[in-house]
Amino acid sequence: MTITIARNEQEFDQMAAWRIIAQMLEKPDAVIGLSTGQTTMEMHRIVSAIHTAYPFDVSRITLFNVDELTNLPRSYAGSCYTMIQNQIAGPLGIPPENFIMPPTLSDDFEAECLLFEQRLASRGGADLQMLGIGLNGHIGINQPGTPFERETWVSPMDPDFEARVRRETQVPDHVVLGGLTRGIKNIMHTRKLILIAKGAHKAEIIQKAILGPVTTDIPASVVQLHPNCEILVDAAAGARI
Ligand code: GLP
Repeated sequence: MTITIARNEQEFDQMAAWRIIAQMLEKPDAVIGLSTGQTTMEMHRIVSAIHTAYPFDVSRITLFNVDELTNLPRSYAGSCYTMIQNQIAGPLGIPPENFIMPPTLSDDFEAECLLFEQRLASRGGADLQMLGIGLNGHIGINQPGTPFERETWVSPMDPDFEARVRRETQVPDHVVLGGLTRGIKNIMHTRKLILIAKGAHKAEIIQKAILGPVTTDIPASVVQLHPNCEILVDAAAGARI
């Protein structure tokens, strides 16, 4: 595990963006996993801006997101599909067939989870996963307590997050929302992981995840066991490590 602490948020965003660009240049048919959220928005914008300024071939790059919401329309502005499409897949011009995402609506999510993994495997498996971290240590939508052997599945959502999604959508109360997420086992099978965090509010969980014991209580702590993992944080998130 290597640890990189950027001097500030701007440097963090640049460094994170260049990690993605470097992977694309190094392997023109790379399979790259992203995450949504505050941490990644600016880095996605920078990747798109670099590609606009210095165009290179992305026609064989595959993008996917580590997770997706279920039981609401894909067109919802907060769906991972829409965020990744608007922030990076669209601006880069990734061919639609190379943007691999599970559907948000399905009668059989178990089958969708398998299909999602099969589609990634058919392209040689994930090369890189940019991995955000939740304040409780979740990765993807794998909440504390999720077994490390868990394969891609639909997880219950964090209650605060679910409340926000319900406020922003017209999904009826009786519809159960969930988070389809790559399982911890699948995440760990990615060739390279980059765990990213910025901001003082992430300092405590980064400390626990990186310096504390490896435990299912802090799902992100599992990355300590990955043979090719970088922790990339800004100075505020890295203040305790
Ligand atoms: C959500 C996403 C995660 C992401 C996390 C961090 O839970 N499903 O994939 O890592 O948020 O979000 P933020 O960067 O906004 O703190």
